[in-house]
Amino acid sequence: MMKTTCTILAMAIWMPASLAFSPTSLTSRLPLSSFDFSLNAENGLNGLEEKKRVMVLGGDGFCGWPTSLYLSDRGHDVMIVDNLSRRKIDLDLGCDSLTPIASPETRVQAWKEVSGKEIQFHNVDVAKEYDLLVQLIKDFQPDSIVHFAEQRAAPYSMKTSKTKRYTVDNNVSGSNNLCCAVIDAEIDAHIVHLGTMGVYGYGTSGGEIPEGYIDVILPGGRESNILHPAYPGSVYHATKCLDALLWQFYQKNDQLRITDLHQGIVWGTNTPQTVLDERLVNRFDYDGDYGTVLNRFLMQGAMGVPLTVYGTGGQTRGFIHISDTARCIEIAINNPPAKGDRVEIFNQIAETRRVRDIAEMVAKLTGVEANFIPNPRQEAAENELDVSNRKFCNLGLDPITLDTGLFDEVTEIVKKYKHRCDPKKILPASFWNKKRAEECATLDPNSIELKDKEAVEP
Ligand SMILES: NC(=O)c1ccc[n+]([C@@H]2O[C@H](COP(=O)([O-])OP(=O)(O)OC[C@H]3O[C@@H](n4cnc5c(N)ncnc54)[C@H](O)[C@@H]3O)[C@@H](O)[C@H]2O)c1
Repeated sequence: MMKTTCTILAMAIWMPASLAFSPTSLTSRLPLSSFDFSLNAENGLNGLEEKKRVMVLGGDGFCGWPTSLYLSDRGHDVMIVDNLSRRKIDLDLGCDSLTPIASPETRVQAWKEVSGKEIQFHNVDVAKEYDLLVQLIKDFQPDSIVHFAEQRAAPYSMKTSKTKRYTVDNNVSGSNNLCCAVIDAEIDAHIVHLGTMGVYGYGTSGGEIPEGYIDVILPGGRESNILHPAYPGSVYHATKCLDALLWQFYQKNDQLRITDLHQGIVWGTNTPQTVLDERLVNRFDYDGDYGTVLNRFLMQGAMGVPLTVYGTGGQTRGFIHISDTARCIEIAINNPPAKGDRVEIFNQIAETRRVRDIAEMVAKLTGVEANFIPNPRQEAAENELDVSNRKFCNLGLDPITLDTGLFDEVTEIVKKYKHRCDPKKILPASFWNKKRAEECATLDPNSIELKDKEAVEP
């Protein structure tokens, strides 16, 4: 299995200091298992780095919150815009983050106490409250707008026709509104959008997946370089493909400056900023709808629950650690396309791994066995995935790769909050189609028991 890391390449390439990734803040390279950081006067931007005004749409979420703290810690001015829809979906699903996340108001207050830095928070629906969005952009005058504000779970998007429609309405309208708002606000802000590796599809493509654009030979032998064909595997992934077309259109029509980041599956929980105060803790999803694969396995391993591997576990996916998500965003912000340039596209992953190999790693580590269950998803049972991530590496990212030593941070978090786990939420609860639902009919949510029941009582 090809691992997509690029340390050596990154070190060999010269770049101007202002463009290089420079971890001068408290977020220097991790030992993740033992966060022991304190703020010090040298944190933040060096003299060569430009301070930016950054609006973070979806800044209350799993990726958005640690990214907002990271950017603030680095010395940028940060404004979070979030309608808290993710917290409302938890209520609808009867689920909750394993970690007890504080309200946005408490979070930003805690950050101010800990760091002395202010993050603004505004509760605005990007997909529906258009005039408010335009006004916020006019008032804040952002250099960059990072767009995390979408319904992001493929399983949730496939749950019912209601969640399919919600996912399309929310995600596509939000992205369209953002482009219109930047135009109406008459501002040259750089949009940085979180897309997904899933836009390329998860079949075996037979070669390396390039970053966004692919060389093709059209009928008649005409050579061209076009957006990589879209091949979504869920309604959620389809919205990211539709987003990509919107970006292409608004760049062409209005010369918007846009970067689309095709991100892999994010793992980990906390970052050096979120551990500074319990009120800053990041959310941790472990349920069948929102839990991402490695985090689910780590949580199951720590709880003594057999790992829920879907199908043969032959699916190969891209992965990235939550701390690298934040680093990549800053690199993207610091390297905007010029006005008139086509949409910049990066593959935001550290490496690719096969699901059953990850299950084996976690099983070895925890002594919990892997349980191969029917696959709720309509997808290739086995696929290869070879992905280029050279652009981020060339700009200085030295990605964190899967290492069992780094699993400790997640395991520690799970053990700390295990009394908050509802085992009935662990099995898949959304099925791609009728056939998949029938195949999964034997899965009984009530059959899942935590290893040490006494220990999980609060
Ligand atoms: N988590 C991953 O593994 C992963 C992988 C690849 C890509 N991504 C992408 O990264 C982005 C963030 O993912 P996440 O895991 O942090 O998800 P999340 O659900 O935890 O965060 C998304 C945030 O956006 C907010 N939001 C949603 N719709 C909104 C709207 N209309 N107006 C205002 N706020 C809105 C939600 O309340 C939530 O706080 C998503 O676009 C997702 O597709 C995530």
